[in-house]
Amino acid sequence: LRNFDRVAEIYDSTRALPEPVMAAAVDALEAELRGAGAVLDAGVGTGRFAAPLRDRGVEVVGLDLSRSMLRKAKGKGLANLVRGDVTAMPFAGRAFGSCLMVHVLHLVDDPLKLAVEAARVCRSHVLSLFEMSDHVTERDEYVRLGLESGCLLDETSEVTLAETAPPSVLKEVAVWASEKSSDEAIGLLADRLSSVTWDVPEAIHGEIIRALRASLGGRTIKSTRTLKLAVRDVEDIAWGALSSA
Ligand SMILES: C[S@@+](CC[C@H](N)C(=O)[O-])C[C@H]1O[C@@H](n2cnc3c(N)ncnc32)[C@H](O)[C@@H]1O
Repeated sequence: LRNFDRVAEIYDSTRALPEPVMAAAVDALEAELRGAGAVLDAGVGTGRFAAPLRDRGVEVVGLDLSRSMLRKAKGKGLANLVRGDVTAMPFAGRAFGSCLMVHVLHLVDDPLKLAVEAARVCRSHVLSLFEMSDHVTERDEYVRLGLESGCLLDETSEVTLAETAPPSVLKEVAVWASEKSSDEAIGLLADRLSSVTWDVPEAIHGEIIRALRASLGGRTIKSTRTLKLAVRDVEDIAWGALSSA
C-alpha cells in the first residue's frame, strides 16, 4: 500500500486545479450526485472534493487509510470520516446512494476489483474523475522508465476499467491550457512527492530522475489538459466483473 501520510502537508498545494476547472468539476459531480442519497468518497484524502460537495449540501462520507490525509479533511470541517481500506470497505451492502473515486483507481493492483467493491456498497452509481493530457508528462515519462526497469506497474487503470466495465456516461468536465516548468514537475518527482515514485528503489529512482532532467529539463511545458467524469451503473460493474472472470 502506498502511504500518503508523507505528502498530507503539501498535497493540496501541489495538486490544485485552476479555480474554474475545480468549479466545473464540483458542478458536474453535484449534478450527478444530488438527490441520490449519501455519497461515499472512497480515498477522500484531504477532502479536496468532499468539502466543496458538503458546502453544496451533499451528504458525504469519506473513507481513507491515511491518518494524516484524514486529519487534513477533518480540518476542513468534514465530520463523517472513516479510516479503512477501499479494497475491503467497512460498510454494509448498498449503504450509500453513490460512490465517488478521484485519483484512487491507479493506486490499487486491480481497478476492476475496486470498482466491484465500490458497487457493492452503493445503490446506483460509481463515479470517477480523472485527468488526461495531450502531451507526455514528466510523470508519464517517469512511469515509462520505471516500467522499463521492471519496478513499476502499468497505471492505465481508467483505460483498463473502461474495457471491462465501460461507463454509461463519459463527460468532458473541463479542458484547459496548462503551462508548467518542467524543472518544477521533475523536482516534485525527485523529492518523491508523487506516489508513482514510492515503490522505486533509490538507485533506479536516481537514474530515472537524471534521464528526465537530461531529456525534459529546463523547459516550459505547454499542454492541453482534460478533466473527465466517468459514471458507471452498479449493475454494469457487476456484469463487467462476471464477464471478465
Ligand atoms: C491521490 S490521493 C486522492 C485524494 C482525493 N480523492 C483527491 O482527489 O484529492 C489518493 C488517496 O487514496 C488513499 N488510498 C490509497 N489507497 C487506499 C486504500 N487501499 N484504502 C483507502 N485509502 C487509500 C490515500 O491515502 C490518499 O489519501
